Amino acid sequence: MATIAFLLNGTPQRCYVSPDTTILTLLREHLAHTGTKEGCASGDCGACTVAIGEPTAGRQHFTSANACITPAHQLQGRHLVTVEGLSEKGHLHPAQEAMIECHGSQCGFCTPGIVMSLFTLHNDLTQRPSPLTPERLEAALGGNLCRCTGYRPIRDAALRMNDIAYQCPQWFDASLPASASDTQTIDTAEPASFFAQPTSLAALTQLRQSAPQARLVAGGTDLWLESTQRLATLDQLIDVSRVAELLTVEEAVCEDQGGWWIGAGVTYTQLEPLFDKHFPAFAHLLHRLGSQQIRNRGTLGGNIANASPIGDTPPVLLALGAQLELASVNGKRYLALEDFFLDYKKTALATDEVVSRIFIPQPVDGSQLRVWKLSKRREDDISALLGAFSYRVEQSVIRDVRIAFGGMAATPKRALAAEAALEGSAITRQAFRAAQQALEDDFQPMSDVRGSHHYRQQAAQNLIERLYLSLSAPDQEVMLHAYAH
Ligand code: FES
Ligand code: FES
Repeated sequence: MATIAFLLNGTPQRCYVSPDTTILTLLREHLAHTGTKEGCASGDCGACTVAIGEPTAGRQHFTSANACITPAHQLQGRHLVTVEGLSEKGHLHPAQEAMIECHGSQCGFCTPGIVMSLFTLHNDLTQRPSPLTPERLEAALGGNLCRCTGYRPIRDAALRMNDIAYQCPQWFDASLPASASDTQTIDTAEPASFFAQPTSLAALTQLRQSAPQARLVAGGTDLWLESTQRLATLDQLIDVSRVAELLTVEEAVCEDQGGWWIGAGVTYTQLEPLFDKHFPAFAHLLHRLGSQQIRNRGTLGGNIANASPIGDTPPVLLALGAQLELASVNGKRYLALEDFFLDYKKTALATDEVVSRIFIPQPVDGSQLRVWKLSKRREDDISALLGAFSYRVEQSVIRDVRIAFGGMAATPKRALAAEAALEGSAITRQAFRAAQQALEDDFQPMSDVRGSHHYRQQAAQNLIERLYLSLSAPDQEVMLHAYAH
């Protein structure tokens, strides 16, 4: 047990709760704030959406999060805003007023979450004025599911709310309690339950060494499902989300290659500008990775260390030739991402190590990246299969081919035989047929709820067909709006 000091709708709070307490439990069971609802308890439906504020460039900036899978202890030094806090002195927030005006209000489960997503969108539009494009609107609301009615009135409310006069409540910029410090230590002789929140890599690796059995948590978007879905105990936790070295993005050189070192704790939302500029196909994939609430919390390092065979970013990073930096009290070591994944959920990470940074090489002149994700639903869904293709075409010959798939093996994995079939070939149907056949040597996919063995093998071959069609007749490629892939 440990104390958390934070603001709740502008009011200072000090709470004493166990490490595995979620923000949703804290609100509903400890603070009697029941406006935030539980729908799925797995980060899928958005009923539990809250806003978390932290100081950014001198002002508090609020991002949406799923309270059902966000550890309450990560509120230390932060400002939690819930649906109860939006109106002030009888004046509704523009998001609430617009929902009423446009008849967007629905049932008591989904509506509070929708209002909170609109609140963070409104905050974003106010602090960083720019047009409310359909893509931005979809991104803001894509993580709020209603299975009963329609979204048009909610969309209308989103478009309307910015025309409604708004005066920030007084609490908006209330001063925050102190953040975490590096003073926490763990008694290894009798490790009780704890939630450690180091702020430097040195402190993190020290904690990792003294408590190798503890679980590391960053965004918690996957780890916390062990608690809410499988009822596992998460009572020894090391939070990596405040470690300064894990939160940076630096342009640098690694093994004579220019590129970017990305801290393992950088969230998908924070990566968007970099990917938009240098890896548009990767940026498009981010639009389909979870919801805005998940992208605000999930991290690149978490997606890698988690080692799920259907994690969305590892196949892309494999195709791009990413490297990893692993840190421990003994120093740092480096390895190619493809050497990191050993078997199902098994990695090369030693028990005293953490993934500290990821290096993504800069694309060389003329190189291309294509990423195609197949899932049952466009937004907010897990991949059945994901293919990533990196290559360049030189005088009609395809070179530097790197192909990787998720969902085709026990780990995210390169398709080495298919790559060899294409490397140095002209763009001919024959070469791509050979690559499709080579997939049989590369993969023996399993059958599960997201797709059968046969479906996966066929779908992977079809993505190679798609690559062929897009290269042989680029003008004829049928693409939905970029946002939709
Ligand atoms: Fe569904 Fe949290 S309850 S996302
Ligand atoms: Fe609330 Fe459909 S889930 S109206």
